[in-house]
Amino acid sequence: MKSKLLVTTLLVSSVFIGGCSASNSESDENGTMDHSNMTEEDMSNMESMDHSNMTEEDMKEMDMENGHASHTNLVALNDSTGENELALPPLVEPENGVVNITAQQGTTEIFEGVQTNTFGYNGSFLGPVIRMTEGETVTFRTKNELTEPTTFHWHGVDIPGEADGGPHQLLEPGGTEDVKFTVSQGASTLWFHPHPEGATAEQVYKGLAGFIYIEDNRSKNLDLPKEYGINDFPLVFQDREFTQEKQFDYQAVRNDDGTIGNTLLINGTLNPKLTIGKEKVRLRLLNGANARNYTLKLNTGDKFQQIATDGGFLNQPIEMSEITLAPGERAEIIVDFSKYNSENEIALVNEDDIRLLPFSIDKQKSNSIEISESLNDYVVTDEERNLPVTKKLELFGMGKMVYINGQQFDMNRIDFTQKQGETEIWEIYNKPDMMGGMIHPFHIHGTQFKVVSIDGKEPPANLQGWKDTISIESGQTVKLAVKFNHKGIYMFHCHVLEHEENGMMGQVEVI
Ligand code: C2O
Ligand code: CU
Repeated sequence: MKSKLLVTTLLVSSVFIGGCSASNSESDENGTMDHSNMTEEDMSNMESMDHSNMTEEDMKEMDMENGHASHTNLVALNDSTGENELALPPLVEPENGVVNITAQQGTTEIFEGVQTNTFGYNGSFLGPVIRMTEGETVTFRTKNELTEPTTFHWHGVDIPGEADGGPHQLLEPGGTEDVKFTVSQGASTLWFHPHPEGATAEQVYKGLAGFIYIEDNRSKNLDLPKEYGINDFPLVFQDREFTQEKQFDYQAVRNDDGTIGNTLLINGTLNPKLTIGKEKVRLRLLNGANARNYTLKLNTGDKFQQIATDGGFLNQPIEMSEITLAPGERAEIIVDFSKYNSENEIALVNEDDIRLLPFSIDKQKSNSIEISESLNDYVVTDEERNLPVTKKLELFGMGKMVYINGQQFDMNRIDFTQKQGETEIWEIYNKPDMMGGMIHPFHIHGTQFKVVSIDGKEPPANLQGWKDTISIESGQTVKLAVKFNHKGIYMFHCHVLEHEENGMMGQVEVI
């Protein structure tokens, strides 16, 4: 299935651009094509192109040139040298119910001896981890110290539409806004980032992203590593491309099918390593990249346990040998380092076995936590399973021509309405295009949903938990049980940030 898609991709794209080397203007350095100047007619013509008279020789030749052919053939990352200890974001908790969050700009020493211009929350780069407890009433006292408008969006938080921080809640430079709400969901690892129309991708790229942890009675009492920065670590994965001067130049590297880079930062750290004890360690993984998918595994091939999805604990820990996260998605995993010695070279690697995060084991430190076997009581009920589909969405296109149900985002158009507290089945189909199509991570604001089925089948065990973003492959159809607990206007969109910005976004009004 996958290889067939790839071949189609190669054929079509090579025919279209007549060989990459001949017309390099159609492609960029990142090895992805730019289709932004194609008309819709071009696109449908391409869909009906006939390649049946191509020889195997032709195909081989194209294969050689495939660097420019596919959506998914990305520039590779480098092995981390491990020379920098991973940065740990400051942990912030409400004080008298208030959390101050300021979006600001500054400079950050990412490369030794060089100051890079960056954005951050409460600091020059990235943001803190905001930790709250279910039931708590919290005021986020937001402030925009940037020289451009921004918004504060709480990704994955069950929150009224007017507090959600979507494109409607623009905060001008110098502006402040109090966002008060009661934490009404269970333990989970969420995040926050800006969402201004037309500038989300660039602001995130420059560093606006932070974690939100929600804890509850369950998470406080379960047997799990939960000491922040000791055996419980946030890890945000973001690839970037730096200029020669080691600056971000978003406009120069912007790609309409998703901006990627050759340099990985984890928690903003270049060439990171993480020092941990000879013990079980919890890693809270966030794909905070604009576009790249990350497949993560241990270089030893050893298994780890996944304990949580985007929106909370799985019912029980699941043994995994690798995990793939699309932009916006999170997962929590437990890695058991007790079986390794300091001499062992242990690292998180990606699908190409590139060392993303080497670990250094401090054998003085150990715990003997037996991970709880029962973590949650998530269930898709028979009733939910039998509900009819009442909202259908078709994701289609690429580059600047990305659509949901044939339409692009319009802030003045409400695409759907839904009643507060009522569960509806959303069916989302990722329609392949003539390039074979690509993964669209589909995200809905203001709620956590349940994955009812993928192509009519039960989702894999590690998707049987609360989600707010689901990676939908080309050709796939997913059914989601979606319920909003609050009223208001909420976005739904592809979390490839450039797709979102190019219009692969719609609005649902909850009444
Ligand atoms: Cu993480 Cu609409 O966003
Ligand atoms: Cu997309």
